[in-house]
Amino acid sequence: MTLDRILQSQGFGTRKGCRHLIRDGEVRVNGELVTEFGADISTDGLLLEVSGEPWQFRALVYLALHKPVDIECSRKPSHHPGVHSLLPAQFLARDVQPVGRLDHDTTGLLLLSDDGGFIHAQSSPKRKVPKTYVATTHEPVTEALLLQLNQGVKLHDEPLPIAGKARALASHQLEIILEQGKYHQVKRMLAAAGNHCDALIRVAIGELRLASLALQPGQWCYLDTAQLALLRSAD
Ligand code: URA
Repeated sequence: MTLDRILQSQGFGTRKGCRHLIRDGEVRVNGELVTEFGADISTDGLLLEVSGEPWQFRALVYLALHKPVDIECSRKPSHHPGVHSLLPAQFLARDVQPVGRLDHDTTGLLLLSDDGGFIHAQSSPKRKVPKTYVATTHEPVTEALLLQLNQGVKLHDEPLPIAGKARALASHQLEIILEQGKYHQVKRMLAAAGNHCDALIRVAIGELRLASLALQPGQWCYLDTAQLALLRSAD
């Protein structure tokens, strides 16, 4: 692939902008300065350096973000900064998107990618990828509450009761595993069962656990093959 196309594919701007970067001597390829934008370059293990910053070529990216509070998942956020404010600008340019959404006040594991097939597979209701949440409740967690959540609660606009797999973690904390991703689902289920969600964190998607990634709120990482396999093991 030519160097200008490679840079563009990685989110370094328009083709024209990328040609300027190359001509201006801002781009190194595997350590060597290249000023010809038409040079044909292999992308296998390609390490770029753009304006002094190292950049590993990736045809597609798969990211995990520890979403903090007061960040919106929407591409056009309205009240709080969007998730892209926490990521390198190149990812917005190459259309990296969140896989599903978390509310602005929900924290925890959020996946992002520019692989449309992956996003679709992960968010498809048919695939039923389990999502694990820990909710802090306003009222105590009772056996009656767990029974309602496990047996199913009726949500407004939903024809059938919706159930999760819920268990108590502490007097005011429970874990709930959901296979659907309905709007405000955990909060609405808790409200329908007569309690209230004071705080919510997503701790796992499929077999991939946030704790295993050692990310502080606001930090992100690339997912490696083994971590991606944990997501696909739900297939
Ligand atoms: N359920 C909610 O209520 N909010 C989220 O962000 C995710 C699940």
